[in-house]
Amino acid sequence: NLRGLDLRAEIDRLRKERNAVILAHYYQEPQIQDLADFVGDSLDLSRKAAATNAEVIAFCGVRFMAETAKILSPDKIVVLPDMAAGCSLEDSCPPDQFKAFREAHPDHIALTYINCSTEVKALSDIIVTSSSAENILAQIPADQKIIFGPDKNLGGYLKRKTGRDMLLWPGVCIVHEAFSETELLKLRAQHPGAPVLAHPECPPHILDHADQVGSTKAILDYALASESEVIIVATEPHIIHQMEKAAPHKTFIGAPGADGNCNCNMCPYMALNTMEKLYLALRDLAPRVEIDEELRVAAKRSLDRMLEMAG
Ligand code: 13P
Ligand code: SF4
Repeated sequence: NLRGLDLRAEIDRLRKERNAVILAHYYQEPQIQDLADFVGDSLDLSRKAAATNAEVIAFCGVRFMAETAKILSPDKIVVLPDMAAGCSLEDSCPPDQFKAFREAHPDHIALTYINCSTEVKALSDIIVTSSSAENILAQIPADQKIIFGPDKNLGGYLKRKTGRDMLLWPGVCIVHEAFSETELLKLRAQHPGAPVLAHPECPPHILDHADQVGSTKAILDYALASESEVIIVATEPHIIHQMEKAAPHKTFIGAPGADGNCNCNMCPYMALNTMEKLYLALRDLAPRVEIDEELRVAAKRSLDRMLEMAG
């Protein structure tokens, strides 16, 4: 029974006792973001996990992110507060089907979004994140054929932006799919001149209205640098916490779903991590991310390529 426990104080005590670092994604609840040692996007979180001296990484994000931390830092204990924190993009790309897709296109390399399983990473040549995809794509020779998975929206965005042809896997993020174009246009009409910032996991009918498209970190940086007093944010709305902290005088509005508010765009997987579960994960050093060594080494190859190429 955790009732009456000062969770914040207990987490602080355990983090010292365990020599743990707490890494959190921008989509985590505000309390978790506020106590984390580092909050970032997928690329920066991977870099932090690879470089940390801590003995324990408590990863407040989804499972593929915690697995990435374990792949890059195999000697650390990596705990994820809730092992059920998956990702719809990962679910959309079963490894056996991805393997068959690769085998059907033997002259293509697989450029793969980090939102996938460790097995799919092991079947891929180069991993990308939303913040590094364009830069990495530009380094691949123009005549090299490419398959891109699992996010067809990020893939489609890259194709339109760079003019590069790629074969796309048909996966989507259920959170970014939920934004409504009609409601976004209504909101825009209410706030003329407010820029729309969107994550590339949004479908094209949302990206068409975006003034800036980028990773969570890129969206945050743009929002803070913008001269506008009102900013519309088309990604998971928990990132607005960082915006309001850094620029309390500005108004940040989450892009709406069909019901006219942004509550339907919360990531249900990210929401599985709670203060209580983080406390228990640090106390019990469980649930732990464990990966078969052969699989880990195979997946590390494509992740190392990403870290080299992203610079
Ligand atoms: P970022 O790398 O932009 O933080 O994206 C992670 C993610 O899961 C977005 O839905
Ligand atoms: Fe996956 Fe979408 Fe949640 Fe990101 S927001 S973790 S892509 S389901």
